[in-house]
Amino acid sequence: MRTLLKMKQRGEKIVMVTAYDTPTARLVDEAGVDAILVGDSLGMVVLGLPSTLQVTLEDMVRHTAAVARAQPRAMVVGDMPFMSYEASVSEAVRNAGRLLAAGADAVKIEGGAAYSDVIKAMTRAGIPVMAHVGLTPQRHKLLGGYRLVGKTAQEALEVIRDAEGAEDAGAFAVVIEYTAAEVAKKITERLTIPTICIGSGPHCDGQVLVIHDILGLAPSPPPFAKKYVDLASIIRDAVKQYAQEVRSGEFPAPQHYWSMKTNEEKERLHKLLEGLKSRKMAPSRD
Ligand code: KIV
Repeated sequence: MRTLLKMKQRGEKIVMVTAYDTPTARLVDEAGVDAILVGDSLGMVVLGLPSTLQVTLEDMVRHTAAVARAQPRAMVVGDMPFMSYEASVSEAVRNAGRLLAAGADAVKIEGGAAYSDVIKAMTRAGIPVMAHVGLTPQRHKLLGGYRLVGKTAQEALEVIRDAEGAEDAGAFAVVIEYTAAEVAKKITERLTIPTICIGSGPHCDGQVLVIHDILGLAPSPPPFAKKYVDLASIIRDAVKQYAQEVRSGEFPAPQHYWSMKTNEEKERLHKLLEGLKSRKMAPSRD
């Protein structure tokens, strides 16, 4: 947390990316990111669910633990799924505690000022909280879809107030998703804590993207994502080649399999099998 704050103070950009499993966490950490978000985007990009609303706390605990097992140098942030922090403050703290016990360094909740009580209680319990304002996908039904937020002055002001409320309650950072760039700029200037943007322009203290969007593995990425490699084509081509080699007999080659110890052992097996009944079906009389 202190590192991210110092980065903001020094004007160094913070890099956050999502990961949901051990090998990916290891790779993004080796790439030198500052924070890994085990996002509830898990539901869509990994579990094939229609939205984040179906993601459970159990899903998040399991995938947070998988990421933490990579022992990354980067901070691990576990996303609180839909309905895990809304019903009551005590339940929210208990659920956040489960993500910390699974290995997260902090949790993220979708919300700001309206969740001041939750942010305060979690912080009091020793759980660092990252807030999330602007487009909050867990509320996409209420928002009227996954739309750009803060295009009007009134809506922009609400987002700014939301972020300020999160800071006042004790959040250590805030994600700003899919707002007009001016809104993210104002928030970044007004807050002491770092802002991390996704689809909200360049004026934030850092950026976050979903790893499947970066790698070209998401079939319908959001308009603000950037694909850095077409891993889908690379994977498809590799598996096609494997299938073709299996069918042609080229795979496995001698370096991919092993023989019995000695010719004597082979002879012994041959004799042992002679003593067994044949397992071949008798040919059909039809
Ligand atoms: O779940 C997620 O991946 C997120 C990011 C889009 C910020 O919340």
